[in-house]
Amino acid sequence: MTTSTRMDSISPDSQMSRRNFLKLGAAALGALAVLEISAVGLMFLQPRSLEGEFGGVVTAGPVNSFPPGSITEFPAGRFFLIRADDGGFLAVYRRCTHLGCSVSWDPGLNQFVCPCHGSHFDELGDILNPPAPRALDTFLVIIEDGVVKVDTSKPRTREEFESSQLVYT
Ligand code: FES
Repeated sequence: MTTSTRMDSISPDSQMSRRNFLKLGAAALGALAVLEISAVGLMFLQPRSLEGEFGGVVTAGPVNSFPPGSITEFPAGRFFLIRADDGGFLAVYRRCTHLGCSVSWDPGLNQFVCPCHGSHFDELGDILNPPAPRALDTFLVIIEDGVVKVDTSKPRTREEFESSQLVYT
């Protein structure tokens, strides 16, 4: 009596092709996994667009929406947009130049006030009292087609306010 198994009926050629097929499948799955891992890695490495938020260019709005003598806070951009009495624009970083606390605008005092150690800054961000050592940092103001934009990518340090820091239309 002879018993035959299914394997007995498979020729060496078809066993070979099955082995090759399995190898090919495994290689394809491996390649797919590598591609997926690479794609996820590239997504993390790609610079994130910071348009409209701190670290990028923030569109503040039309020039005419900021009356002379006004101060407007942009929390997402971490700055205050100052429009001086003569119409010039200045964007000041809300970070105190002492130890980095966030200053707030006090309309009653007409000053920026640091809650941490009590430094005050005038309506142009100039230093009024220590321990903060200098005026609030500024950001580049760009006026294009009647629209005010602020580039928050690089704070610019200054010792004190100078009229050359104001940007006009
Ligand atoms: S952090 Fe503003 S005065 Fe110290």
